[in-house]
Amino acid sequence: MDSKKLKAIAGNILSFNNDPAASKAEKIALGKQAASKDSAYCYIPEGLVVMEQERIVDMGPEKEVRERYPELDAGCIDRYPQGIIMPGFIDCHCHYVQTPMVGSFGDTLLNWLNTYTFPTEARFASEDFSREVARMFFRQTLAAGTTTSNIFSTTFPCSVEALFEESERLGARNITGKVLQDRNLPDNLRDSDAEESVSQSEDLLRKWHGRGRQLYAVIPRFAPTSTPEQMRLAGQLYQQHRREGVYLHTHLNEAENEIQWAMSLYPEARDYIDIYDRYAMVDDRSVFAHCCIMQPQEWERMHLAGSAAVHCPTSNLFLGDGQFRILQALDPARPCLVGMGTDIGGGTSFSIVRTLGEAYKVGMLHEAPVNALRYFYLATLGGARALHLDHLIGRIAPGYEADMVVLDTAATEYLQWRLDFCNTLEEKLFAILTVAPDRIVAATYIAGECRYTRQG
Ligand code: GUN
Ligand code: ZN
Repeated sequence: MDSKKLKAIAGNILSFNNDPAASKAEKIALGKQAASKDSAYCYIPEGLVVMEQERIVDMGPEKEVRERYPELDAGCIDRYPQGIIMPGFIDCHCHYVQTPMVGSFGDTLLNWLNTYTFPTEARFASEDFSREVARMFFRQTLAAGTTTSNIFSTTFPCSVEALFEESERLGARNITGKVLQDRNLPDNLRDSDAEESVSQSEDLLRKWHGRGRQLYAVIPRFAPTSTPEQMRLAGQLYQQHRREGVYLHTHLNEAENEIQWAMSLYPEARDYIDIYDRYAMVDDRSVFAHCCIMQPQEWERMHLAGSAAVHCPTSNLFLGDGQFRILQALDPARPCLVGMGTDIGGGTSFSIVRTLGEAYKVGMLHEAPVNALRYFYLATLGGARALHLDHLIGRIAPGYEADMVVLDTAATEYLQWRLDFCNTLEEKLFAILTVAPDRIVAATYIAGECRYTRQG
């Protein structure tokens, strides 16, 4: 092997092989290989991850791994003795175009959309603005340790181009697409013609899907902002391309008045998910953000279809929406795929670690305490599974793409001192998701390149 190509990261490695809380029955139901509880994750103190170009080639205890690579130059090892090296975080639902309006007065979802969101998104008719915001978005996500996001752009093709161009420049794996929205929006944001809008989406799909690490999603914003004709054409486009790995990404059952509005516009539908079902949008590459106020048969439908739900707690709390029922979603009797989402800019933080902390609190409102190992699984391998990318990202293992985050357990005097009181890895991770400051991210690697290093 050419030693010049090898690079490595040294620190304490944490990577999941499975859901640490899943019972055997649940794993079998999910069609995954059964594994004992202990092998759901691996934690390697003083470990080494070796990378060749954009891939991980080896990992394990540093002493053992070094012996296998005598040619590995010590100068090519980035060292984080206090660091926990994890797979990069996966944000399964966010809107990069809302980066300029995070923290705008919430009121209710629908008022917030009309007052702040739509006017902000209308500005993405400008290529320059789109590029400026795409750059800012990635600076924030990299500083938060997020390496892959499933992203809403907006109506304008240039908003999609700007996001993909910046993602490609970084060598990152990201998913986006044109947002389809042809009714109930201001004129300056609305698609004027259903057919033209879906054909623009198709052009972007053909240009970007599978180009390097970029992936495309067909994105009807949510049922109330698409005409039945746009929904029909969008469902058709998705079905034509889903076997190539194209996604369907939308919102579902977020807030009471949103649900009432959607049902009034589609009176023939049995429930909210049935609206999407009627347009061939519910299957195993469908990703539904929020899923807060779900009827039992809607979970059942998602389970049977293999669709994914995205838990966006900072957004649901901020906008006073419904609350995600995590143990319902993960019910071993009919488990659904679940990923974590910041939902920037309804969400209030780019950090998936903070998002986990808020998810825990939402769970506690419903007597659903979920342990930290399971939450970090959802932020990494669980998110990769929700997006069907778990053969490429979400683990630190040979052959995987080298997207990683390093969490600095000594990021502040208090954090370091506090973590010394923990007896187990689980206690440590729980304290991190509860009290860690954003500066806990020491470094973020994308495809083997260090793309963020904390200053100071
Ligand atoms: N539903 C439709 N559009 C949006 C959006 O931009 N944010 C949130 N949180 N929900 C939505
Ligand atoms: Zn959203």
